[in-house]
Amino acid sequence: MSSVYDSFLKCLSEKTKTPQSQIAKIVFSQSNPSYTSVLRAYIRNARFNKSSTPKPTIIITPLSESHVSAAVLCSKPLDFVFKIRSGGHDYDGLSYISDKPFFILDLSNLRDVSVDIAEQTAWISAGATLGEVYYHIWEKSKVLGFPAGVCPTVGVGGHLSGAGYGNMLRKFGLTADHFIDAKMVDVNGAVLDRKAMGEDLFWAISGGGGGSFGVVLGYKVKLVPVPATVTVFRVEQLMAAGAVDMFHKWQFVGPKTDKNLFMRMLIQPVTRNKVKTIRATVVALYLGKADDVVSLLDKELPELALKKENCTEMTWFQSALWWDNRVNATQTDPKVFLDRNLDSSSPGKRKSDYVETEIPRSGIVSLFNKMIELGKIGLVFNPYGGRMAEIAEDATPFPHRNMLFKIQYSVNWKESSPELEKGYLNQAKVLHSFMTGFVSKNPRGAYLNYRDVDIGVNDHGENSYKEGEVYGRMYFGKNFDRLVKIKTAVDPGNFFRNEQSIPTLPIAKRTGVPEQGTAKRWSGAGGATVVASVLLHVI
Ligand code: FDA
Repeated sequence: MSSVYDSFLKCLSEKTKTPQSQIAKIVFSQSNPSYTSVLRAYIRNARFNKSSTPKPTIIITPLSESHVSAAVLCSKPLDFVFKIRSGGHDYDGLSYISDKPFFILDLSNLRDVSVDIAEQTAWISAGATLGEVYYHIWEKSKVLGFPAGVCPTVGVGGHLSGAGYGNMLRKFGLTADHFIDAKMVDVNGAVLDRKAMGEDLFWAISGGGGGSFGVVLGYKVKLVPVPATVTVFRVEQLMAAGAVDMFHKWQFVGPKTDKNLFMRMLIQPVTRNKVKTIRATVVALYLGKADDVVSLLDKELPELALKKENCTEMTWFQSALWWDNRVNATQTDPKVFLDRNLDSSSPGKRKSDYVETEIPRSGIVSLFNKMIELGKIGLVFNPYGGRMAEIAEDATPFPHRNMLFKIQYSVNWKESSPELEKGYLNQAKVLHSFMTGFVSKNPRGAYLNYRDVDIGVNDHGENSYKEGEVYGRMYFGKNFDRLVKIKTAVDPGNFFRNEQSIPTLPIAKRTGVPEQGTAKRWSGAGGATVVASVLLHVI
C-alpha cells in the first residue's frame, strides 16, 4: 500500500512543482497519525463512523486549485474510486465510503466566500459551509440573503451541485436557480469556468450532482433581497387537538399561499400521558411582519390557530439561527455559524418522495396510525408552489417543479446496536412502501440531495446504464437523458463515479463516437472537448 502512496506523492509533487516534503502535508495515508481525525472531521452520519466502515487508502486535502487538478491527474492511472467530499453531509455517506478501494478528495480547506454588495453576488467555494456563506453575507448586508439549506454545516460542494433548497424556496426557487458562474476541474485536470465548460456542463452541475462530472471548486451566485424584519413561528398540535384536520387543510394552503410564507410540516409519533399519538408541527418563515402573517393564516388556515404570541420578529440572519434550533436566535452570537466542530451527529437514514395531489383525510388517518405503529420514523413535508412552479422542469436537472410538496422520511437514533439499526432502517422502508398510493408515479420522484441508496445503485459494469436509469429517472425524470449525454461527452471513461452517479451511454448508442476500449484515450488532454462536440450535436 505504501507504494501507492509513494507514487501518488511523487506524481503530485511533479505536477504541482512542489517538493514532496511539502505536498506530503496534504496527503494522508492510513499510517499518518492525523488520518483518522481528517477522515472523521466530515463524517456527518454516525452510521458510517464505525471501525467496520470501509476506509480510504489515501485522503487528499488540497489547498489550491492546482492541487485539485494534480490530484485528478495523478489518480486517473490508478485503480481507485475517487470520492469527492465537501461538507460530508451525504445521507448515505457516498462522499467518504466505498466498497471498492478508494481515495477521498476532501475540499474542506477551499472555503473562501467573497461577497460583492454592489453586484449583489458572491463567489462561494465548495468547501465552505452554508453557515459561513450566511455569515459572510450578514457581515456586509442585513437586507441580502441566499436561498439555500437550513443546516449551517452542510457543504456548498454537494448541496449546490445537487440543486439545494431552503425555507425561501417558495419565494425564490432552488439554490441552483441563482447560479451565475461556476468553476470546476474536469477529467483532464483543466480548471473551467462557465464559458470554458459550456452551457451543457454548467446546466449539469446546476442540480445534476457534481460528483458525476468533475470536481466543483465553487459557484458565483446571485444574492436575493430579504426584508429587514422577518417572522418565524412553530405551532404544534396533537391528534386529540385536531392534527388530522389541520394537516389535511395545510395541504391546500401551504403550496398556494403567499410566496413569502414557507410552512414546513413535521409529523412525528410521540407518547403523551402514556398514549401513543402523532404530533403535527408547523415550522415557518414569513418574509414580512408578524401581524400580516397572523391575519393571513387567520383567513387561510384557522385550524392552525396562529396567535401573535407564537411569532417572533427578527432579521433574516437571525431566522437562519432560529431554524438551526437556536431558541434565543436574537441573542445568539452570529459567529456560531463559523463553527465547524459541531459534530454531534447521530446515526440516521433519510428517504424522499413527492406528492402531486392532496392526501385524502382517510389517508392521513391511516398514515398517522401506521406511524404510531412503527414508533420512531418521522416525516417532513415541504410545500412547493410559488416561484418553484414558475420555472420550467428542464431549466435545471431538478425536475420536480410542479409538485405540491416534497416528503423527507427522517429517522435518527442513539443506540449502537446493529439489531436496532436494522429495525430503524426497516421503518424507513416500510413507511416508504406504505406511501406508494399517495405519491408521484412513473417514475416515483426522489431528491438527489436526500441521498437514498435503497432506490438503486450502480456497480459500473456492463449494466451501468440500466442501473443508472433506475435511480436516475427518480432523481431527474426526463432530464436524465440530457445528463447522460453530457456525462458521456465530458467523462467518457467514467472516472468520476459513485454508487449513484450518472452513467455514460452504452457504447452501442454512442453515435458517431469511437468504439469500446477507446474511452481511456479520449480522456487524454483535449479529448473530452472533441467528444463533447460530437455527442452533443449528433445525439
Ligand atoms: P458531501 O461532501 O457528503 O457530498 C455530497 C455529494 O456531493 C457526494 O456525492 C459528493 O461526492 C458530491 N460532492 C461534494 N462536493 C463536491 C464537489 N466539490 N464537486 C463534485 N462533487 C461533490 N438539503 C437541502 O437541499 N436543504 C436542506 O435544508 C438540507 N438540510 C440538511 C441538513 C442536514 C443535517 C443534512 C445532513 C443534510 C441536509 N441536506 C439538505 C442535504 C444536503 O444538501 C446534501 O446532503 C448535500 O449533498 C450535502 O453536501 P455536502 O458537501 O455537505 O456533502
